[in-house]
Amino acid sequence: MGRIGKLTTAHGKITTPTLMPVIDPSDVILTPIEMRREFGTELVMTNAYLIMKYFGEKATKYGIHRILGYDGPIMTDSGGYQILRYGGVEVSPEEIIRYQDIMSPDIATILDTPTGVHPTKERAKQTVQTTVERAKQAVQLRSNPKVMWCGPVQGGLFNDLVAKSAREIGKLDYHIHAIGGPVELLEKYRYVELVDLVITAKQNLPLQRPVHLFGAGHPMMLALSVAMGCDLFDSAAYILYARDGRYLTSEGTFHLADLSYFPCECPVCVENFPQKLRHMPKEKQIKLLAIHNLHVTFGEIRRVRQLIIEGKLWEHVQLRCRAHPRLLEGFRRLLEYTNFIERFDPVTKKSTFYYSGGESVGRPEVLRHRRRLENRYKPPSLPTLAIMPAFERERPKLSKPERTHLVRVIPPFGVIPEELEEIYPLGQTRAPKKLDPEQIKTATESLRRFLKLYGKCYKQILLFNNEHHWSNSLIKACNSVVEKLKIIELYKIHHRKIK
Ligand code: GUN
Ligand code: ZN
Repeated sequence: MGRIGKLTTAHGKITTPTLMPVIDPSDVILTPIEMRREFGTELVMTNAYLIMKYFGEKATKYGIHRILGYDGPIMTDSGGYQILRYGGVEVSPEEIIRYQDIMSPDIATILDTPTGVHPTKERAKQTVQTTVERAKQAVQLRSNPKVMWCGPVQGGLFNDLVAKSAREIGKLDYHIHAIGGPVELLEKYRYVELVDLVITAKQNLPLQRPVHLFGAGHPMMLALSVAMGCDLFDSAAYILYARDGRYLTSEGTFHLADLSYFPCECPVCVENFPQKLRHMPKEKQIKLLAIHNLHVTFGEIRRVRQLIIEGKLWEHVQLRCRAHPRLLEGFRRLLEYTNFIERFDPVTKKSTFYYSGGESVGRPEVLRHRRRLENRYKPPSLPTLAIMPAFERERPKLSKPERTHLVRVIPPFGVIPEELEEIYPLGQTRAPKKLDPEQIKTATESLRRFLKLYGKCYKQILLFNNEHHWSNSLIKACNSVVEKLKIIELYKIHHRKIK
């Protein structure tokens, strides 16, 4: 579901997926201009509620762009998060709408009531209702045509509420939607629940609108989030982690205290080494760590974009989810939604399908092949079916080739009729010859279903046994659905004609 998007704002065009570094107006470590120069930042995020506290009328008088000293696109959050963290804010929903309307950020956010992960269902329901009511009210209050508005989805861990929230807010006039409440899930590595939350929201939102995932700025989980269809990310992580002496990488988080080497190619890491950084004055150390953290995060964004273009995002997600077992768990949960994801997966791609471990059998391409074979396929009317286990590229010498339909069983796809062998991605797949249990299971199952559906179309069924260790499993699968299966030992008949 990963996608490259163009978002046109009052201060310029943005390519998505992208990362918005969060600017704390009271403590600017790196200015937005510096960020644009260093990392190619396109969009920054700040908090209208905090701006109101620090700058008051000044911000409405001069506008947010002059306050931050930045003429590029700016998004403001509303103080919703402060409600979750501190139990409330000293501003009304109407006030913060009007304040943003006048301050004129490129994207503004209504004051939602975040559900979080702790409340009872009753309370969670209230947060969703309040958020939707405020979203309706905000549509009436808005008057600045330059501002695009973000309507957050709430509901927390209650999928039915998340679905309802997404449906209701999706009906309203909003340009962008955000998914609320992942922060607590991210802090605790609760990726299974994060996947449920994001996919449920995506299933119920208008798909053409960009989706922002609040608080998700760790390079380790960006690929997974983009693959779920999220377009915008905000990162306060770069600075929060830096203050804690934590060093972000796409493979996980390290502590400066534990590092002997920097596993990174950014200028900070090339010009320094951990020992040197540890002895720097704290402020300088924080700034350098923050710069490194942003470099790796933007690096990952660029990588993800490139991989989307190449059609290789899925393989990258498989790799990234090796960073932590909980992330792998989350990815495996995503595989349970392949049915939904398959609708968005391009039918052809520029790239070879690389099999890269057990989760590859859960890819949308594999599901699509299975489905189409079951729903759209019609075997040619020939009396004999010849089943050939994988990798034997040579066509066996058959006595009546014109009367025989050859199908190969090629993991991870399973049955591939000869006439479809060049169709993407069946003929553009690379997989290790030694099969893992997931491949054997799906391929065997595919053959069983094929025979169940189409076995009756043939008078005779031959199975070539080429002594791959999974042949037994194939024979068993065949015997369970068709009678009088003829097994042909391929090693005995090579170069001989079969009667
Ligand atoms: N930042 C992190 N989570 C949230 C949320 O649910 N709402 C808002 N407005 N900001 C957030
Ligand atoms: Zn670095």
